[in-house]
Amino acid sequence: MRTIDEQGYHFEEWLTPAQIHVDVQQVAKQISTDYQGKEPLFVIVLNGAFVFAADLMRCLEGVRCEQTFIRVSSYWGMSSTGQLEFIVPLQQVVDQRDVVIVEDIVDTGLTIHQLKAYMRAHGASSVRVATMLFKPNKLEYDDAKPDYVGHEISDEFVIGYGLDFDGFVRNLDAIYKVKE
Ligand code: IMP
Repeated sequence: MRTIDEQGYHFEEWLTPAQIHVDVQQVAKQISTDYQGKEPLFVIVLNGAFVFAADLMRCLEGVRCEQTFIRVSSYWGMSSTGQLEFIVPLQQVVDQRDVVIVEDIVDTGLTIHQLKAYMRAHGASSVRVATMLFKPNKLEYDDAKPDYVGHEISDEFVIGYGLDFDGFVRNLDAIYKVKE
């Protein structure tokens, strides 16, 4: 088993590139089935989702589609509704589009909760979520439960395949779990 030491923490390989490929294909198959005859807009959430999205998009079959990228901050403002702050704003019109948000991981679901509300407010016909990883035990927003999941994980910190540790190690070809 491969291991990585990063910033004083020890990580062990959890999902190999081959296992990730199986997960990505399974997600792509579901999306390909569900979006036959539609022209979805994939909204890819930077930075983490770029690796998963690149693989996922190339595994889709028979789906005419577009991709666009956004980046949002973890600052949510002081209002009770919370204010979504775009660092890279949405370039595409989502009005009357079938939107699929692509994430690396859904944790508390706050990001997805906010993004879904934003897409709906801007007239999206439908909004679904595809994520490589999902931490169901951590979910705090019911509407953020992802529609397409590569792999579920309990409350453990993971890196690689787009997931970072303070900006680094996104480029690892496998997903590694921290070991205490
Ligand atoms: P949420 O808004 O709480 O669902 O958080 C989602 C974001 O938290 C992801 O896009 C990641 O940037 C980050 N995150 C959550 N868990 C992990 C992890 O285990 N490793 C790396 N990043 C994580």
